[in-house]
Amino acid sequence: MMIKSVSVSPFDDQKPGTSGLRKSVVVFQQPHYLECFVQAIFNSVPGLAGNTLVLGGDGRYHNAEAIQTILRMAAAHGIKKVLVGQYGLLSTPAASAVIRKYQAAGGIILSASHNPGGPDGDFGIKFNSANGGPAVESLTEAMYANSQQLTEYQIIESEPVDINEQGPSQLGEMQIEVIDPVSDYSELMASLFDFDAIRQMFRKGFRIRFDAMHAITGPYAREILERELGAEAGSVINAVPKTDFGGGHPDPNLAHAKELVTEMYSAHAPDMGAASDGDGDRNMILGQHFFVTPSDSLAVLAANATLVPGYASGLAGVARSMPTSQAVDQVAKELGIACYETPTGWKFFGNLMDGGHITLCGEESFGTGSDHVREKDGLWAVLFWLNILAVEGDSIKQIVQQHWSRFGRNYYTRHDYEAVDAERASELMLRLEGKLEYLIGTAPNGLHITAADNFAYTDPVDGSISHKQGLRILFADGARIIYRLSGTGTQGATLRIYVEVYEQAASKQEQDTQQALAPYIQLALELAQVPTYTAMNKPTVIT
Ligand code: G1P
Ligand code: ZN
Repeated sequence: MMIKSVSVSPFDDQKPGTSGLRKSVVVFQQPHYLECFVQAIFNSVPGLAGNTLVLGGDGRYHNAEAIQTILRMAAAHGIKKVLVGQYGLLSTPAASAVIRKYQAAGGIILSASHNPGGPDGDFGIKFNSANGGPAVESLTEAMYANSQQLTEYQIIESEPVDINEQGPSQLGEMQIEVIDPVSDYSELMASLFDFDAIRQMFRKGFRIRFDAMHAITGPYAREILERELGAEAGSVINAVPKTDFGGGHPDPNLAHAKELVTEMYSAHAPDMGAASDGDGDRNMILGQHFFVTPSDSLAVLAANATLVPGYASGLAGVARSMPTSQAVDQVAKELGIACYETPTGWKFFGNLMDGGHITLCGEESFGTGSDHVREKDGLWAVLFWLNILAVEGDSIKQIVQQHWSRFGRNYYTRHDYEAVDAERASELMLRLEGKLEYLIGTAPNGLHITAADNFAYTDPVDGSISHKQGLRILFADGARIIYRLSGTGTQGATLRIYVEVYEQAASKQEQDTQQALAPYIQLALELAQVPTYTAMNKPTVIT
């Protein structure tokens, strides 16, 4: 088959963010736009030619077209074999699992995660390396550099490949294997968790409601929760993936998973509620009339890990992103294991896992995971909770309350100001950063500041340093205020303010979160003059 070289002038905006290159669909629909970035990936990742590549996405609008383009470019690049999910589908954690299981040289995942989809929504593409994890920063920088100098890309001409039937086919010299997107993943889950114990719990009448939000986890959750574990039919709602996620915002949080939240706070709430996002790597956990913060969820999983077969021998260590609450730090201290604090984004956990330093990790942004793959994993977190519940026999609320009485409670919230004027948002950050050194040792509104900086991280495995990862203000009582600008938004800037307070006294652990944090939230607004710079008097999303 003829390889065609197409001459192009480079696009100047192909810089990958927190999680790959994410832009609106219309940007990706520009002629040659996707092709240029794919070529930049192929040019930057050594050793792809002659090897196996995994390919799939979350099924959002433009997924199907992009898969065909990438297959034709992969054939032109001399890729030996592509494992592609049936219908072009693979959840992000499943893609990571498949890369690892078949020892592929890497994978291309098409997703904009929790961002809305459809013709007016977002699209995204990212490369995961042979360890199954997102490309490290040096590699994404190489892709960006390459994209800026690109003069041509290579592609073969062919009819669309049929990816609706499982099995092998050929495109030029390249083999294609259309795989079941679910089976490798569900096999991995069965190897980690006590499926028999969970089955028995469902048999005794335990009820779960899992909201797949019309995104990728529908088929996974139906297969694993309903078919394999015997949860009652209909336990998974919004289970059919749609290219526009049914018009919804596929982000599992209190603001966007409305239907689920309403049911979990109703008189007939099931025992457990859970949801996942567009590409299946995030999770939200709810009990009856009870919300588990993602930071607490990570801490509870860490504290109870040895109840679960896959983690019975204990944890090597744990890690959390810097803005994530310090709840898991308390657990690590008691278990006598290391706890790492990394910048936001999953890519920083990969090295720690590959180096054997950590087993579990998580982020406040509804991400939890372990070294079974190199991505966060929504359904995995749900199964972990189910396994703990099956062993303990307590409710979710009881388990979390017992956790607080043992380790203390970290009240925690994140306030997002979305679509802020990008220049004003940078000004806010710059001005605040300039003030930080003068805040140390002061006590505005009576709150004692002991430290303040722009977080930098030195990777203990490869020694690489990541600067400017968020402004931190630390208080004498363990409280923290953190400011960051999002690296995944596609409109203007999103300012994230994270606020945390530690409460050891059991008598003070039943307050409303926003009230418990109110003095610090107030101070956060004042210190950064948030209403002035954002032109908003309240956040757009509170989680
Ligand atoms: C957000 C989250 C971050 C997560 C990322 C990808 O990034 O805050 O924790 O890793 O999405 O899911 P941000 O928009 O804050 O850069
Ligand atoms: Zn996601």
